[in-house]
Formats: sequence, structure tokens, C-alpha cells
Amino acid sequence: MADTDVKTPVAEDGEAVDEAPKKPIDPDFEPEIIVFACHYCAYAAADLAGSMRLQYPSNIRMIKLPCTGKLEVIHLLKAIEAGADGVYAAGCLEGECHYLKGNLWARKRVNHVKDLLAEVGIEPERVEMYNMSSAQGAEFARVATEFTERIKALGPNPVKRAGVDAHAAAREALGGAAMPDDPAPSAATSEEGHAE
Ligand code: FES
Repeated sequence: MADTDVKTPVAEDGEAVDEAPKKPIDPDFEPEIIVFACHYCAYAAADLAGSMRLQYPSNIRMIKLPCTGKLEVIHLLKAIEAGADGVYAAGCLEGECHYLKGNLWARKRVNHVKDLLAEVGIEPERVEMYNMSSAQGAEFARVATEFTERIKALGPNPVKRAGVDAHAAAREALGGAAMPDDPAPSAATSEEGHAE
């Protein structure tokens, strides 16, 4: 929808109503973001971004999967329940999943989790699905930056609890479905958490 299509909210009596004030962004908030990354595409794209010295926020922590089709609703919910401020799946381009429809299933599950979060009063924008190829290092950096800015604007996960490692909890929930981490990616992440 174009920006010009945005309408002022109107009450039942036809009077314009004020929109809820936006939450101020806390400049010190550094979100914890879990990325479920297919090793054929997004994980390789992250490596490429590192090789290209592209910068993206250091807030993201990846969990490598053989295909995003391995990702179940419970894994996404566990990551949020354990306090991740944002979670996204990054799979192959549609039509290019090595398991044919794994990325399509992942998108359905992500959308289902969005609905579940909305029902319990948690912003559905905290969960997302992206598609990219292994050659799209710049796209990987762009998505990581865009999603981090989105979560910074939302603020901390309301169910975050002190002392719970969301990344470890998500990995544990996946069990054998998660692949071992490679040595730390050589990504050029910015210390401030912003792409430069
Ligand atoms: Fe990459 Fe399925 S193999 S999303």
C-alpha cells in the first residue's frame, strides 16, 4: 500500500481519533535476535557478507539448519518464550529449496506463530521469514539490519526473563535438527549494533 493510502483512524461517530503514541526508542536497547538459517543459503550468505566486509548488526545469533523446513512452531515459540526479542527464519528462495517445499512450510509456520503471538498480546512483528540465495551477501546484511531496527523500535520482549539464554534454549528445543556451528563467521559486524 502506498503511503498516501494511510488513513487517519476514525471513531464510530465519524470523528478522527488520535493514534496511540509510539513508544520512545531506548538508544541503549540492544535486542537479542535469533536467526534460524538454512545452511544452503542464508548461512552461506552470512559468510559471503563477512568475506565482502559488509557490516550488519552484531545483535543476531544464528542457528544453522539443514533446511528451514526443520523449523517447527514450537521452536519459534521456545525462542520467544526464552526471551529472544526477535526471531527470524532465513531460507532459500522460493522454488529453490533443496527439499522442495521446506521454505514454504517454514513461512506457513512463521505466519502461524505471528497469529499465536497476536492472540497473547505479543507483537507478531517479532517473528519473520526471509528468503535469499547463498550469493546474496548484501541481502543478508540488509535483512539483519532492517530486522534489528524493527526490533529496536518495538523494545524488549515483554516475557524476557533474567538469566535465560534464548539462543541456548532455541538450540536445545531443536535438538538434533540443528547443525553444529561453524567457527565464528568472519562477518564485519559494527560494534554499535548499526550497519554503517
Ligand atoms: Fe534451504 Fe530448504 S534447503 S530452505
